[in-house]
Amino acid sequence: MSNGQEWNIRRLLEWTTDYFTNNLVDSARLCAEILLAHSLKCQRIELYTRFDQCPAADILAQFKDMVKRCAAHEPVAYLVGYKEFFSLKLEVTPAVLIPRPETELLVSHALDYVKNERTNESLNCLDLCCGSGCIAIALARHAAELRIICSDISDEALAVTRRNIEKYNFAERITVCQSDLFDSIAQSGYDSFDMIVSNPPYISDFEFGKVEDTVSKYEPHLALRAPGDGLDFYRRIVAQAADHLSGQGALFVEIGYEQGQKVYEIFKQSGYLTNIEVIKDTAGNNRLVKATKM
Ligand SMILES: C[S@@+](CC[C@H](N)C(=O)[O-])C[C@H]1O[C@@H](n2cnc3c(N)ncnc32)[C@H](O)[C@@H]1O
Repeated sequence: MSNGQEWNIRRLLEWTTDYFTNNLVDSARLCAEILLAHSLKCQRIELYTRFDQCPAADILAQFKDMVKRCAAHEPVAYLVGYKEFFSLKLEVTPAVLIPRPETELLVSHALDYVKNERTNESLNCLDLCCGSGCIAIALARHAAELRIICSDISDEALAVTRRNIEKYNFAERITVCQSDLFDSIAQSGYDSFDMIVSNPPYISDFEFGKVEDTVSKYEPHLALRAPGDGLDFYRRIVAQAADHLSGQGALFVEIGYEQGQKVYEIFKQSGYLTNIEVIKDTAGNNRLVKATKM
């Protein structure tokens, strides 16, 4: 940032937006606003009522450091330590995947199932591969009838999950369990579920080569990569869920946009899943597969 003129909020936002645009940062203006609001410890909307204010030197220094890192494609969510998901403000660290807007589709369909097909029932739900806990916490917030087990193989991720659960006061309804898929789920005290939801790793070795730097350099590979053809987690989840889904229980999995037909086949060949549907996201891409147990 050059000097000469006063660095008021308006000028900081304009300069940073141009800088991000030139460095091919997506949503340049939004990123500039999130970083500046974070540095000033205020809401984004407040920036617009304070355009003429000049932040203090220490705040400017912190902002400048984050601007540099963001221009080098470090994700904004890790820089500020949170990400919004389903109108929740969730803590994120580099130990967890940054929750994606596409994953809100899974939450919406799972909530429809609870509200429309299991009306007035108390249900047990399992969120496999929970990461930040975004899916479980969004479900808990909108469906008081759910008791949820959140599980992940990563202890570092589960530490973040626990803090997010505490933040939203769901410790009595959401239990955390470290497990390699279903292997240790019984330790949670529950073994059978009315609903299983999962956004597992699904990027194949081949596809990983095409992933943008901002993802491959900063987000945990454990959260992203599935060996070989990228379908391994679906095969394992479908095979093992047979013993953990209660009668008429539902399974929801997020998928990569090219995986719809293949995951559909995995569901179909299971022999115990019915009402199998591949659902598209708002961009028209296959994003979710859901089914119920026969
Ligand atoms: C794609 S991320 C999803 C995180 C979160 N549910 C979301 O939607 O943002 C996948 C998660 O699976 C976890 N994971 C990877 N291998 C696993 C395994 N074998 N068993 C359980 N969890 C696993 C990773 O640690 C990561 O948190």
